[in-house]
Amino acid sequence: MNVLVFDTEEQIGVAAGYYMCGQVLQKPDSVLGLATGSTPLKPYSHMIKLYEQGAVDFSRVTTFNLDEYCKLDVNDKNSYHTFMHENLFNHINIPEENINFLDGNAEDMELECKNYEEKIKASGGIDIQLLGIGSNGHIAFNEPADAFQRWSHVVELKQSTINDNSRFFNSIEEVPTHAVTMGIGSIMQAKRILIIALGENKAKAIKQLIDGNVTPWCPASVLQFHKDVTLMLDKGAASLL
Ligand code: PGA
Repeated sequence: MNVLVFDTEEQIGVAAGYYMCGQVLQKPDSVLGLATGSTPLKPYSHMIKLYEQGAVDFSRVTTFNLDEYCKLDVNDKNSYHTFMHENLFNHINIPEENINFLDGNAEDMELECKNYEEKIKASGGIDIQLLGIGSNGHIAFNEPADAFQRWSHVVELKQSTINDNSRFFNSIEEVPTHAVTMGIGSIMQAKRILIIALGENKAKAIKQLIDGNVTPWCPASVLQFHKDVTLMLDKGAASLL
């Protein structure tokens, strides 16, 4: 694994923004796997900056997002659809029809998941998957569990995740109880993976990801089996290495 440690979140944003845009410069019709959460905010703002400077063109790029809440209107302020548009898509030139999300409101979720996997495959596969990591080692909504879930699937959110995410909602009752997420197999098929972690509360998960046992109790640990993983960490997240 390629482990890079930076002094500030700002520097990580610049490095990750260049990393993602570098992929697009090398291959203008790249397929990007994208993530939500607070971690990718600076990388996205740097991608926007490079676009505004005319350094990169996203007009042939396709994107697949990792996950989405179930039974939340896509235009709700808390949907990941809204997050991605506000923080990236509204500011760059990816055609709307090239932007893909799992539909958490689909009538047949099993079919929705199957179609998403097929669409990723038909696009040629994800060139770079951007990932955050949970303090418990989760990636996307793949929470610690007895077994790795291979493909996209619906998950019931853990109470701890509902509690964590309730800060964005008016009340805890409004937080969706279910989400739909790419699986570990979907993520592992990406050609390259860029994982970013900020803060000491991620340090334990990062240590386990890099040199712990590979176990579904720390879903990110499976990335040890991927051939091209880059980690961008601040000093807090790297503090146990
Ligand atoms: P965060 O979430 O970026 O808001 O820390 C990361 C994650 O839970 O995957």
